[in-house]
Amino acid sequence: MTKLKSDSELCYHVSCSEKCYVVLPFHAECQRYIPEYYNYFLPLFHHRNSTETMVNVNVIHSIFNILLPPITLTSLYLLIKSFHFVIRSVLSQNVEGKVILITGASSGIGEHLAYEYGRRGARLALVARRENRLNEVAIKAKSLGSPDVITIHADVSIVQDCNRFVDLTVNHFGQLDHLVNNAGIVPLSLFEHITDITNFVPAMDINFWGSAYGTYFAIPHLRKSRGKIIAIASSAGWLPTPRMMFYNSSKAAVISFYESLRIELGKEIGITIVNPGLIESEMTQGKFLSKEGKMIVDQEMRDVQVSLVPIRSVTGAAKAIVNSACRGDSYLTEPGFIKSTFYWKAFCPQVLEIMNRWLLMSGSSERGAISKKLLDMSGLKNKLYPESIRNPKLKPN
Ligand SMILES: NC(=O)c1ccc[n+]([C@@H]2O[C@H](COP(=O)([O-])OP(=O)(O)OC[C@H]3O[C@@H](n4cnc5c(N)ncnc54)[C@H](OP(=O)(O)O)[C@@H]3O)[C@@H](O)[C@H]2O)c1
Repeated sequence: MTKLKSDSELCYHVSCSEKCYVVLPFHAECQRYIPEYYNYFLPLFHHRNSTETMVNVNVIHSIFNILLPPITLTSLYLLIKSFHFVIRSVLSQNVEGKVILITGASSGIGEHLAYEYGRRGARLALVARRENRLNEVAIKAKSLGSPDVITIHADVSIVQDCNRFVDLTVNHFGQLDHLVNNAGIVPLSLFEHITDITNFVPAMDINFWGSAYGTYFAIPHLRKSRGKIIAIASSAGWLPTPRMMFYNSSKAAVISFYESLRIELGKEIGITIVNPGLIESEMTQGKFLSKEGKMIVDQEMRDVQVSLVPIRSVTGAAKAIVNSACRGDSYLTEPGFIKSTFYWKAFCPQVLEIMNRWLLMSGSSERGAISKKLLDMSGLKNKLYPESIRNPKLKPN
């Protein structure tokens, strides 16, 4: 091994009878490891010409300098996160016998959360406006394993109703362990098409205030049980989408509300903020609040908005949400791949805007948007949408 240059440059030339090899520059104290290092990297740095080799080695060295620190930091971060995840999973709460209050339990995510908690032996208070649907859900939740289920007819946008459903739950069961704020609606219209701007007030009243009211009345009881709040927000809280500005704003408000509240409550009451992507439910069957202020079913417009984004099964989503709440996660994005849109928003918001404008706004008409054309032309609806969405119970008005 022949030293080619000064110690300060720390480059080494290794020669043999036939070939010429150069190893990477070394830190002075590592010089004694050169033979092992050399053997390891030999195939990488095999060159005929030593000048050319030096150039390549310097390039590789620069690449290592740039890439290794972030890769190491990212790996350490992921390692620590995985470690925490494993610890939280091992110490996950057993909800058998616990009292769970779920708003919006008459369909979709709320309904299936009732089944998932029921399977785990939790006692349930189910809240919504459609009593007949609530009763059906209650019967099924009992058959799946819940020892006691009550149903409460209430509108979460009315503050007295929220006070009442919390009181009724605590009076019946004597405690409250999880409050699941799930009730929600989606208003859908281009802003300038809205016939009366106040038609969309219910979005904020139900999605945001409906969560805040219930939380307000539940906190004293949750404090006693060191309970949890599960806030069903949405990835729409950070994703800009045309026609959904009121929905998106209400969900951004929900996220911000619970992030701020978490600081006030500390560790006494856990808060899991759930950000679903697209989950099978009445909402993804095309149930919207129209620009006239009426709940309608419009599957064509659903296709425009959803396009080629896969819709997650509600059973899987409910299981993931209950697991996450029991682990005491601060956030859950379900399905996980939707989290990537958060990074697009953070680092390339303009690209997101351009893409959404092109997909959802351009085309022959509102219903002939590129997003819908792509869905129709690709024929992927069968693969990306679950059966309940392809053949929905809800029929268009
Ligand atoms: N599905 C998705 O892709 C998706 C994505 C992101 C977030 N989310 C969120 O997930 C939550 C559940 O929605 P979902 O997808 O399961 O839709 P869904 O099937 O339409 O369920 C909505 C539930 O909210 C209830 N609700 C609506 N207004 C209410 C009110 N004023 N008072 C009491 N209950 C009310 C409905 O019951 P009644 O009509 O009987 O009152 C129903 O049980 C919502 O907060 C939604 O924003 C859903």
